[in-house]
Amino acid sequence: MEAARSAAVNAYAPYSGFRVGAALLLSDGAVVAGANVENASFGLTICAERSALVGAVSEYGPTIRIRAIAVANLNSSFSSPCGACRQMLAEFVEENGVVLYPSSETVIENHPFAELFPFPFAIPKTESAE
Ligand code: THU
Repeated sequence: MEAARSAAVNAYAPYSGFRVGAALLLSDGAVVAGANVENASFGLTICAERSALVGAVSEYGPTIRIRAIAVANLNSSFSSPCGACRQMLAEFVEENGVVLYPSSETVIENHPFAELFPFPFAIPKTESAE
């Protein structure tokens, strides 16, 4: 959570004013954080969670596994990972991975990732793709 809070300070959120930080605890103990980066073409905005994810894969490679995801914001607000981020994270989260996020100014929720996103889209493995 501390790494997520620190990352939120680096957010680029001039349009929403909602600064988010996310930190991923990887299976090997490494922590990778990211912040949201907005754009004048609003749809191009990247959330803190995906920012952290692309940073982690870029730094440690495609075999990373995520043990825990922490989300923080500087607005004392509820913020659990959005649906798009859940879908992206799903491919990398360990079976018993957890998500920590603020549900209010004072409460940090801690839930299994599988509870937040039970049915991710996945492409079935075919012989030709192996
Ligand atoms: N945002 C995140 O960084 N993570 C989420 O899970 C939801 C939303 C960002 C995107 C945008 O910059 C701002 O919060 C307001 O939606």
